[in-house]
Amino acid sequence: MKKLFVIGNPISHSLSPKLHNYWIKQEKIEAIYDKKLLEKEELEENILKIKDGKISGMNVTLPFKKLVIPFLDELTENAKITQSVNTIYLHKKKVYGDNTDIYGFKTPLEDFGFNGENKKALILGAGGVSASSIVALKNLGVVQIILMNRTKQKAIEIKKMFEDIEVKNWGEKVNFDIVVNCTSLGLNNEDIGIDFSDIKDKIFYDIIYKPKTKFIINAEKNNKVISGKMMFIYQAQKSFEIWHGILPKIDSKVVELIND
Ligand code: ATR
Repeated sequence: MKKLFVIGNPISHSLSPKLHNYWIKQEKIEAIYDKKLLEKEELEENILKIKDGKISGMNVTLPFKKLVIPFLDELTENAKITQSVNTIYLHKKKVYGDNTDIYGFKTPLEDFGFNGENKKALILGAGGVSASSIVALKNLGVVQIILMNRTKQKAIEIKKMFEDIEVKNWGEKVNFDIVVNCTSLGLNNEDIGIDFSDIKDKIFYDIIYKPKTKFIINAEKNNKVISGKMMFIYQAQKSFEIWHGILPKIDSKVVELIND
């Protein structure tokens, strides 16, 4: 029986077990997926359990996506360029860290028919998923990326990884074709605190997987909106494929599972 976990702190809200166990059952795989609340000091011993074969794989969520890196043997290219790991697995006796957030972020935009050519993106927030969003937008051909974060220094740190992005002050007025909420604002129904009321016919993309954040509600009358729900499902789908070698189906039942 394969044992898989999502690790994070906090972790009680995670919908990953629901989704993975649904697919595990559907694909008739001998496995169980659970959540595990960890402290930073426990990361190393838990990752060693993957090396020992006691755990088959892990998803990593906040605040550990970067902190797990020193305990891994290898990083995939996507994990390396973002310095962010959300999927861990064993391959030829080595513990690998991969990043499926890029795929998760990119695929809903592709489904939507988004073409990045000549497009300008504004990213709000310099937290755990911002680098993945930047890589995904670049892959989609976006020509200009502006990053703003309440704590400007953190945006400047990300610019060191992606020199061609621009850093602006939090809340500064800029033109864009797509704006992405990569902050945690909205998780508890908070407003983003930036006035977009005069913006029309643009794309508002929230990485928070609640269907209706204030960011989305305020924008949807005059703009196209994408919630983080499909991003969440797609990143999980890719992790599932990495561990089990099967790309599980995304049907209406799967989408419903994430509705609460
Ligand atoms: P981490 O910053 O530890 O990686 P995260 O949840 O990935 O955690 O990121 C939280 C993001 O939401 C950060 O960009 C944070 O901005 P700061 O770097 O200034 O903390 C942003 N954020 C959280 N609360 C905010 C608020 N009230 N106003 C603006 N941005 C906020």
